[in-house]
Amino acid sequence: MNHTCRIELDGRSYELPVVEGTENERAVDISSLRSHTGYITLDDGYGNTGSCTSAITYIDGEQGILRYRGIPIEDLAEQSSFVEAAWLVIFGHLPTSTDRERFSALLTANSQLPQSMLKHFDAFPPHAHPMAILSAMINTLSCHEPPQAEITDDAGLERAAARLMSKVRTIAAASYKASIGEPVVYPRYDYRYAENFLHMMFSLPFKEHEVTPEAAKALNLFLLLHADHEQNCSTSTVRMVASSQANLFASCAAGVCALWGPLHGGANVAVIEMLQHIHDSGVNVTDYVKKVKSKNSRTRLMGFGHRVYRNFDPRSRILKKAADELLSTLHVHDPLLDIAQELADAALGDDYFIERKLYPNVDFYSGTILRAIGIPVNMFTVMFAIGRMPGWIANWKEIHDDPSTRIYRPRQVYTGNTLTEFVPRTER
Ligand code: SDX
Repeated sequence: MNHTCRIELDGRSYELPVVEGTENERAVDISSLRSHTGYITLDDGYGNTGSCTSAITYIDGEQGILRYRGIPIEDLAEQSSFVEAAWLVIFGHLPTSTDRERFSALLTANSQLPQSMLKHFDAFPPHAHPMAILSAMINTLSCHEPPQAEITDDAGLERAAARLMSKVRTIAAASYKASIGEPVVYPRYDYRYAENFLHMMFSLPFKEHEVTPEAAKALNLFLLLHADHEQNCSTSTVRMVASSQANLFASCAAGVCALWGPLHGGANVAVIEMLQHIHDSGVNVTDYVKKVKSKNSRTRLMGFGHRVYRNFDPRSRILKKAADELLSTLHVHDPLLDIAQELADAALGDDYFIERKLYPNVDFYSGTILRAIGIPVNMFTVMFAIGRMPGWIANWKEIHDDPSTRIYRPRQVYTGNTLTEFVPRTER
């Protein structure tokens, strides 16, 4: 393999280094391009631009491969748990039983919010979007506890990670309770991660919610599948903010804001709204797909397509299977899942989608699982954020631990006015 490449600019030839990753991905290192040539590159949406090297998650979009620290997502889905996968993503290896017990105990010990923070929930209007509350409250957490001071080693990161991962769960449940006018329910010391969330969401001070093993297992899987996904929009946002040496909480609060958009984490809400619209309006799937395909259509098949996957998103296959199993265990029939399957069958056989390599992504089936365990639709993206917290923490750590990290500051090609005179107010 050549370790350099040549480019010609204005009749001159330049040699640039080539970088190769452990999975044979190759990149032209352009860090000296501007100083040597005066040129920069331009790449709309960064579709061809690597912002960093990273050792956390590997995706092969052509093959539909996803691995956390080299371990296939299918094996983790089958044999691991969200908390264990979170540790793997953050610290680079599966936890020993000692690691696991210590981290679990830290998660439990950090599950309650500072009492004064609970007052904030009374100030949000009932219709406040839970992603707005989550982002605001993550930053508020940093007002209560010094996140920066503590993170000087892996033990400090473990404490901060446990605090953040545990408290985002409590914040989410508390925002739901506030929105329905119910009192906040405190976490339980004897519950594991997913069970405690469902308990805080659906119990009442005078009536304990029965957390079923099926619901806890399905939520665990949902969170595990969302734990990390390379340099997606929100993770890149976390790295952008982290590169200024902002603290972990500020970086993850920014990640929440980027995830919110319907083209990204907000798609899991948009998918259910799309399926509900098809169900309630009675429009048939063929006509809906025709509408999506029509030129200048602004209607997208939500939950379909991906910047990296040009094949099935492996998470969508796992989620579809889990949704089928959960619904049959609960003896529930969800007509929206039937519509989703009809849409998928129609699209996967249609040239428009085949030519553009559009397949179901993580959001296409995930909402069915959340619906089946009773999570309200407007909380779906919050669930995505809770799942993605380990990936954001791991990426923040990669930036924080790397002494060669430079602040992210992309260039631009200016297309505005050339030199323009100032016109005094009296002459305008
Ligand atoms: C997530 O990056 C990650 O890893 C994200 C994520 C993670 O785990 O972090 O995987 C989570 O965000 C999944 C994606 C969720 N979003 C959606 O489901 C929204 C619907 N999908 C699209 O908007 C779109 O596919 C994106 C945003 C996911 C990807 O956008 P791209 O790569 O910029 O693709 P594009 O908009 O340039 O589309 C290329 C072509 C266009 O057609 P032409 O101009 O060539 O005629 O494909 C078409 C698009 O119109 N197209 C779609 C489509 N997605 C792309 N047409 C109909 N329906 C769609 N869903």
